[in-house]
Amino acid sequence: MTPILPPFPRTRMRRMRSSAALRDLAQEHRLSTKDLIWPIFVTDVAGANVEVSSMPGVVRRDFDGALRAAEEAAELGIPAICLFPYTDPAVKTESCEAAWDPENFTNKVIRAIKERTPEVAIMTDIALDPYNANGHDGLVRDGIILNDETVECLVKMGLAQAEAGADILGPSDMMDGRIGALRDAMEAAGHQNVTILSYAAKYASAFYGPFRDAVGATGALKGDKKTYQMNPANANEALRLIARDLTEGADMVMVKPGMPYLDICTRVKAEFGVPTYAYQVSGEYAMLMAAVQNGWLDHDKVMLESLMAFRRAGCDGVLSYFAPAAARLLRADGL
Ligand code: PBG
Repeated sequence: MTPILPPFPRTRMRRMRSSAALRDLAQEHRLSTKDLIWPIFVTDVAGANVEVSSMPGVVRRDFDGALRAAEEAAELGIPAICLFPYTDPAVKTESCEAAWDPENFTNKVIRAIKERTPEVAIMTDIALDPYNANGHDGLVRDGIILNDETVECLVKMGLAQAEAGADILGPSDMMDGRIGALRDAMEAAGHQNVTILSYAAKYASAFYGPFRDAVGATGALKGDKKTYQMNPANANEALRLIARDLTEGADMVMVKPGMPYLDICTRVKAEFGVPTYAYQVSGEYAMLMAAVQNGWLDHDKVMLESLMAFRRAGCDGVLSYFAPAAARLLRADGL
């Protein structure tokens, strides 16, 4: 694009900012409730419905609480919710078989929501960490995170979720080859319309800390996730991962975390032009909320500005813990 800029005063950039009406007309990007995916924590362990201490305003929901969240999403016009289980430590094993149990809590919740609120799309998390005694996303043998054996488990997990009624599978594990394996398994099992939103460019980030508190993984995790999640110093590798996952059949791709990686979002959208999402992760939410609680930042303004940044960076949508609060404001005062 060649900028045409006659010299001052023929060009006065402030002219188009001089009233709310002109600012509206000149606005390049819009943020809508329809751009939001709402992540929620669900649990059948006692102690639900209390706030996660590092995530003010976010609770772990029991069965009824999860159903109410889906209803709230429907009322607010949020198109999708994403379920993350907090699992009883007693069911976590090294072989992770609870992950593909059709009767695990997540799958029960999926079935119930699909019966009550079918218009809300349900996204799931595919990774073994909620069910793994050592907190990793993959099977661990002799300290090594196994790739191919893990992919077999992830396929079983995805099939159980699809069977329960999941609309969007969200593999967040970063194993190689899982998108193709999941796609093939879905086609073979008759789940042609179950979509895959690949956590394709997921970084080994310290911003996941509050999430690990929320799902009870903080104490369990041995070591770090650097052999499967990406090095935060890399950008070209993210594009290779996105290309790879698209080639294997991903319908949508994600960059995660969000705000520190907006450059990646922009490059992904420009390069591939596919449905692109960012995850404004727990630590991003926590740091904004901490400043809000101190009276240092304005909740509504920083929330909407941070969400708009994803649209400007090229994202079609955002997973955000702010989703319901943002939806309430956007309905009153669309942006
Ligand atoms: C794990 C998973 C994580 C998140 C989503 N799925 C954490 C991790 O990789 O350790 C993080 C989400 C957030 O921080 O909000 N499969």
